[in-house]
Amino acid sequence: MSIFLCFLFFFPLFLINFKKLLPSKRKLPPGPTGLPIIGNLHQVGRLLHSSLHKQSLKHGPVMLLRFGVVPVAVISSKEAAKEVLKTHDLETCTRPKMVGTRLFSYNFKDIGFTQYGEDWREMKKLVGIKLFSPKKQKSFRSIREEEGDLLVKKFSNSAQTQTLVDLGKPLFSFTASIIFRLAFGKNFRECDFIDMERVEELVIESETNVGTLAFTDFFPTGLGWLIDRLSGQHSRMNKVFSKLSNFFQHVIDDHLKTEHKQDHSDLISAMLDMINKPTSEGSFKITPDHLKGVMSDVFLAGVNAGVITMIWTMTELTRHPRVMKKLQEEIRATLGSNKERITEEDLEKVHYLKMVIEETFRLHPPAPLLLPRLTMSDITIQGYSIPKNTMIEINTYTIGRDPKCWTSPEEFIPERFLNTSVNYKGQHFELLPFGAGRRSCPGMALGITILELGLLNLLYFFNWSVPDGMTIADIDMEEVGAFNIAKKVPLRLVPTLHISRVNKCI
Ligand code: HEM
Repeated sequence: MSIFLCFLFFFPLFLINFKKLLPSKRKLPPGPTGLPIIGNLHQVGRLLHSSLHKQSLKHGPVMLLRFGVVPVAVISSKEAAKEVLKTHDLETCTRPKMVGTRLFSYNFKDIGFTQYGEDWREMKKLVGIKLFSPKKQKSFRSIREEEGDLLVKKFSNSAQTQTLVDLGKPLFSFTASIIFRLAFGKNFRECDFIDMERVEELVIESETNVGTLAFTDFFPTGLGWLIDRLSGQHSRMNKVFSKLSNFFQHVIDDHLKTEHKQDHSDLISAMLDMINKPTSEGSFKITPDHLKGVMSDVFLAGVNAGVITMIWTMTELTRHPRVMKKLQEEIRATLGSNKERITEEDLEKVHYLKMVIEETFRLHPPAPLLLPRLTMSDITIQGYSIPKNTMIEINTYTIGRDPKCWTSPEEFIPERFLNTSVNYKGQHFELLPFGAGRRSCPGMALGITILELGLLNLLYFFNWSVPDGMTIADIDMEEVGAFNIAKKVPLRLVPTLHISRVNKCI
């Protein structure tokens, strides 16, 4: 054989074996092709979860994108979510440092946006004891029931005159008042510096700003800094933050003024006490920024997700009269027709309502991308390498619509939860409205109680209809929001008093 023929024969074999000798290249997840510098930023629209949903239908349940210089892994299946939130929870349970989250968390002195570590653990423990413990939950029961009565009263006035009502405002006031009284130890109706309309605006503005992508996050060199200043994003964010901070300062000052009357059992009093207490060298020290950071968490994370879910639930019920009828019949048959007040014991009895809420969470998870995580080391998800320092977005909106998990996924069928163990508590990765693992929502039990109580009051005492000239097909389902995704067009319905209540509450 000539040397030339030998070469022709052996060279391909050499190449194959040489490739094997090289260190194997990591198998990165697939994803849409990006552009130089901006990466995939041009492929995401106003609603990030919805853009990522569409991309994942093309590229699969584990995708890798790039936002400027930041790699972003998008997880869109139950199996992949389980690997991130359970198998690799410890390697992925920190949060990325972003401009908005840094500002609104008082330089990461809160729970929700702070990085994994000692501070996060201490703050979570403190808030767990002061706000979320079963003992606290029990002691707050009368506050929640009282606010339920006030909610009914508000709607009763509209029902008497058959007036069209925007459900959002009374439900916001109901939820915010409960959270305010529980966490801040104050009834906002007794505070002259609080106007509920303005507080609602403030919560929505703050959430939008904290969740809006800032260019500085993705172009850390001067370019992002410059764009955020030229576009007005920087000054908008700081203006809203300063309003929120002022509001918190008023609440704290009010607390200090009336300190002698307080029983030191609410979260603010307890933290004020701890700020003033000397601590030993090296131990965790609560500062005024920790206090405001937690106030920011409780107020922003605690209020809107519940209100949004109540609105989506009432929207879906109005669009599905069969479900509404079945639900109200079950509620009224179970609770009897003579109740003057809904109590928290009633919540245990209304099983179909729980299924309706689960179905609403499936189709309209209030925070569809949860909160972003960051990998602290290289991990492998579904056979794909996800490098250290990759931002992780879990798209629960896509998982809730996955035909592999749900039959007729686009349809609203609460009965699908009838004979199944699947629930929203973080062990079933096809339904994750509160997340799962170390960073899952610590306010889940409280959030669910408020949500069930609000809905049960609306559904027991009132019937609901769309205004004259409108049909259920006209109900707009467009979404809006940044972290929390709400119904864009307010839900306006006409309440009618259920007959048994008429003589009692008017
Ligand atoms: C229906 C009501 C609620 C829903 C759907 C909800 C949902 C969520 C979600 C999806 C997360 C992120 C989980 C993750 O990243 O894996 C979260 C985190 C959080 N939620 Fe909630 N939440 C609700 C009510 C509340 C309430 C009432 C409070 C407090 C008063 C609260 C406080 C928090 C906090 C502090 C975090 C951050 C946890 C951490 O990063 O360690 N939430 N919530």
